[in-house]
Amino acid sequence: MKRKPDHYTEQARKEGFPARSVYKFDELQHRFGLVRRGDRVLDIGASPGSWTLRLLEITGKEGRVIALDRKELPELSRAGNTAVCICADITEPEQYELLNEYAPFDTIVSDAAPNTSGHRTLDTARSAVIVESSLALTETMLRPGGNAAFKLFQGGDEQSILANARAMFEKARIVKPKACRDESFEVFLVCNGKKAAQPQSVPDRSGNTEA
Ligand SMILES: C[S@@+](CC[C@H](N)C(=O)[O-])C[C@H]1O[C@@H](n2cnc3c(N)ncnc32)[C@H](O)[C@@H]1O
Repeated sequence: MKRKPDHYTEQARKEGFPARSVYKFDELQHRFGLVRRGDRVLDIGASPGSWTLRLLEITGKEGRVIALDRKELPELSRAGNTAVCICADITEPEQYELLNEYAPFDTIVSDAAPNTSGHRTLDTARSAVIVESSLALTETMLRPGGNAAFKLFQGGDEQSILANARAMFEKARIVKPKACRDESFEVFLVCNGKKAAQPQSVPDRSGNTEA
């Protein structure tokens, strides 16, 4: 059944955004200050491009936005700034080499979501795989002090995902922006201030470990 356009859909159309999801990003940006002018940002699950267009406005000409989706993306430009578009699946580690060319990132955001099957347990598990892959990439490609946000379907592993994020960032929490539809079970894992990598423990000659 086709949905009646709501207030956010109408507003997105008027402001030249292809999807209403831009207002979810706007709330996260307003509350958690994820991105700044001049930042280098990775946007995962970027098609059809609303978040990317907003990111191009915020980062400006000095910034860089890398938009990744498993679907082909159109050319995305705003405020004199053009995104680098990559067609790839974030759950496939072969993609990391490609992305490494643009790392380190100041911010990583993901609005990526699996196609819903109507089977909630399956959809939630697929969403968790996307977030876990994105977090693994964040561990190596986000600079210390950087911020991140990831879409996640509720009802599965979110507490263990949150615990992993808390080990990696100064602050991490799960939030539901107002622009998410009431019936939707999507939430966002929002993380600020990536911790610097801990030095590896090295055993000394007696077998004791020292950090
Ligand atoms: C809700 S849409 C994103 C909307 C976008 N943020 C915007 O504002 O226009 C979710 C996107 O995630 C993408 N996606 C889902 N799984 C993915 C994966 N494993 N790797 C890359 N992209 C994926 C889908 O192709 C889809 O375009």
